[in-house]
Amino acid sequence: MCGIVGYVGAREKRGILLEGLKELEYRGYDSAGFAVLTGERGSEQMQSFKATGRLKNLADKTKDFAFNGFGLGIAHTRWATHGKPTEINAHPHTGEFSYVVHNGIIENYKELKDELQALGHTFLSQTDTEVIVHLFEQHFSQCNDPRSAWERTAKRLKGAYATLLITKAAPDRIFYAKHGAPLIIAGKGTESALGSGRESKAHESLESAQGAERPQIEIYFASSDAPLIGLVDMVVYLEDGAVGDSSDFATLSPKVPLSHSKSFAQKDGFRYFMEKEIYEQEQVLLETMLGRVKEDAIVLDEIDPALFDGISEISICACGTSYHAGMVGKYLLERMAGVRTNVVLASEFRYAKPILLKDELFVVISQSGETADTLEALKLAKSQGLRTLAICNVDNSSIVREADAVLLTRAGIEKGVASTKAFATQVMLLWILATFLGVERGVLGERERERERANMIAAIAATKVSQNLHERIKRLSKRYLHGHGFFFIGRDVFYPLALEGALKLKEISYLHAEGYASGEMKHGPIALVDANLFTIALMPKYLLHEKIASNVEELSARDATICAIAQEEFALADDWIAISQAGSYMEEFFAMMVALQLLSLEIAVRLGNDVDMPRNLAKSVTVE
Ligand code: G6P
Repeated sequence: MCGIVGYVGAREKRGILLEGLKELEYRGYDSAGFAVLTGERGSEQMQSFKATGRLKNLADKTKDFAFNGFGLGIAHTRWATHGKPTEINAHPHTGEFSYVVHNGIIENYKELKDELQALGHTFLSQTDTEVIVHLFEQHFSQCNDPRSAWERTAKRLKGAYATLLITKAAPDRIFYAKHGAPLIIAGKGTESALGSGRESKAHESLESAQGAERPQIEIYFASSDAPLIGLVDMVVYLEDGAVGDSSDFATLSPKVPLSHSKSFAQKDGFRYFMEKEIYEQEQVLLETMLGRVKEDAIVLDEIDPALFDGISEISICACGTSYHAGMVGKYLLERMAGVRTNVVLASEFRYAKPILLKDELFVVISQSGETADTLEALKLAKSQGLRTLAICNVDNSSIVREADAVLLTRAGIEKGVASTKAFATQVMLLWILATFLGVERGVLGERERERERANMIAAIAATKVSQNLHERIKRLSKRYLHGHGFFFIGRDVFYPLALEGALKLKEISYLHAEGYASGEMKHGPIALVDANLFTIALMPKYLLHEKIASNVEELSARDATICAIAQEEFALADDWIAISQAGSYMEEFFAMMVALQLLSLEIAVRLGNDVDMPRNLAKSVTVE
């Protein structure tokens, strides 16, 4: 979704801002822009540039510009919410002497806009964001103090926002405000100038930065850590309610190390991030298990055991792919730990007046840790006194900070908008959790625990992509480009896997696909069946094989085109994607997951689509 980058310092600003935005590209956007304020006090030059579509358009448009010398820059990638993805609606937005960029939604923008228009402000865009810059200039005209004008501006904003503003009224600093959308500030420079959380003189240092004895101080802002990797070591994840300017950095605390390594963010010879992330699954799943699944015990020592004391049920709440992982979790938790488990979509949960029980554990699952609906659902459950656990991939994300307890999935940065390795690690972690609770609650004995451990190890090995499998799917994909739709079918844990397979295909191929419980096909969807309806059937050997086989027969009898994903060939299927020999249904699950991911990838590639940045989608959905 939208991305923000900001920079204060002497380096060339166009390059830094475009590089930063590039790191946020994967989140999804439809236009981009940046503004710079540079020059000596009294002769400041302020300029902005915007372009619709890919960042390359903005880079081409600005290729003859360079902004050296001390100055400021703010940049943004926009995913349209209020107003179409046009150049006028792209950020930064401007008033008379300032520019603003913003992520989130200003809920009271209509009221503010009416008020400001009545005072003579002219609005150019249809966005909610533009009110921020006019509100600031209005306050500044009254108090003539930029800091106080900014604080008053932030006080009037309702909704979710991470926002940066630059103004000729204070050409040495970037103003920031954060509430409900992530924003990070980071600094680089001499220890004494930046301070380390104690009182220091960074403010003065920045001011003197315009003079001859300019220390090499740089302040960066970003809406997530990807643009900062390799540039800074220590960052501050701003808290909700944070309002200030870049000169505050020295006094901010706590400063924490930036943890990811840059190598996670490179394609490493793969055609797409999604492809690389599919291939990475074996490695990251091992990380998920590390230290948790031991030979003689399942250990979740990142969680206080009291979290599970006396829980009567579990509710799992999530969106998108994470919701599908949650559905798998329900089957596992009920079967292995004997705990009744509900799974609910966060966007539905929030407004449904849910009945919550005091001894219920509320689990949220989120790759990004920033999904607005999931975050709000978590806050709601917490406010009702429930114990909460987050299963998340991003440390320090809003969801991680909000939950009582956290299990990190350890998938590393996932850049492909279509989630693959994050899903794999979520399912693995839920499997670990189910085994842990199964042992705790006496449902699983030592032998069963050992069996699950062996199955986990085998399941991880089953995610290794064999060249045979990938080549086979590449060739097969050309037969599945037409037709009037896909049904992905499965039972039990293979039902949410079918939902996930269909979602992957929809996301990147733009073909119509539905996931269905195979036993339900006869209750409606079978009416659609003909030779141009493609059925992808998940046919495990070790779970309800006969049942799914008869469901597939019913479809075959009506001439559906069937592609079976299975260990063994099924005579009535037209095509067969053979998964490697497996010894348990969960091993089959992980092997089939990889086959489904590759199938979506190869169909999308043949259709010429942008696999990593599918149209209209965002990696991290920070609006409800
Ligand atoms: C977006 C992404 C999906 C993701 C969903 C939930 O729609 O495109 O891939 O599954 O958000 O995101 P989360 O970060 O909470 O798992």
